Amino acid sequence: MNATLITGASSGIGAAFARKLAARGRNVFLVSRSEETLIAICNELGRIGGVRAQYLAIDVTQKDAPAILFEETQKRGLEIDTLINNAGFGSMGDFDRLDVNRELEIIDLNVKALVALTHKFLAPMRERKQGTIINVASTAGFQPVPFMATYAATKAFVISFSEALWEENRAHGVHVMALCPGVTETNFFAASQMDRPPMRSAQTPEEVVDTALRGLRRKKNLIVSGWVNLAMVEAERFVPRTWILKVAGNALRPRFEE
Ligand SMILES: NC(=O)c1ccc[n+]([C@@H]2O[C@H](COP(=O)([O-])OP(=O)(O)OC[C@H]3O[C@@H](n4cnc5c(N)ncnc54)[C@H](OP(=O)(O)O)[C@@H]3O)[C@@H](O)[C@H]2O)c1
Repeated sequence: MNATLITGASSGIGAAFARKLAARGRNVFLVSRSEETLIAICNELGRIGGVRAQYLAIDVTQKDAPAILFEETQKRGLEIDTLINNAGFGSMGDFDRLDVNRELEIIDLNVKALVALTHKFLAPMRERKQGTIINVASTAGFQPVPFMATYAATKAFVISFSEALWEENRAHGVHVMALCPGVTETNFFAASQMDRPPMRSAQTPEEVVDTALRGLRRKKNLIVSGWVNLAMVEAERFVPRTWILKVAGNALRPRFEE
């Protein structure tokens, strides 16, 4: 049975992916740490006729998480033809004052877990010459972001990694796409211990997922969600990088420096 594996499916963009894909008749395998929420979403989606919604509560940064997830899909007879690496979080503040262990956890989740899961599920996709991988990056990945230094750097990694894999895997029937949302109304800011989102108009997670599905239909390797976000990303290409850094730094500095 074919299915889509979604990490970070208990809330925000991941939960929106689960609902939108199930509504289109896709079986989903939902992953995050919050078992009760995953059960509730699976119960909700299980009411959609012809759709199987299953879950596994696991911390995907665990070293053996990719192997556990892969074995679990095999036990359940699930063929993961779409992987959505969506789980992620960030932090905001003067890097010097941030807890370095938490900064390293951001890298563990946004980078290491994403790479490990991609590697685990890519091989069978290539054997079948069919598959899709969506890696959720961010508009923060297009330029360094002072006071969100680690988070933005992880998302730059996700963009670069995904684009390279898009080219490597095109000839093997596997489509890889980086999805770049801007500010989106989710638990992200609470989970990332940020008081309030930085500027820019927020999108809903449903809008972000609609953009992603449109991007897939058009076989995009990279898609930015929202016209305002796209305009910002495009405009930044014509402006000196130090200028962007200073503007972003000046906007956020008052929050973190006495
Ligand atoms: N919201 C934004 O403004 C925004 C903008 C650009 C990009 N993004 C990206 O979008 C993605 C989704 O974030 P979101 O906005 O939907 O935030 P969210 O509502 O906080 O969702 C994050 C999801 O990740 C899961 N998660 C966190 N740590 C995990 C771990 N160690 N193992 C497994 N699952 C874990 C969370 O569930 P549990 O806590 O239950 O594990 C939750 O389901 C992230 O990669 C984020 O960087 C968000």
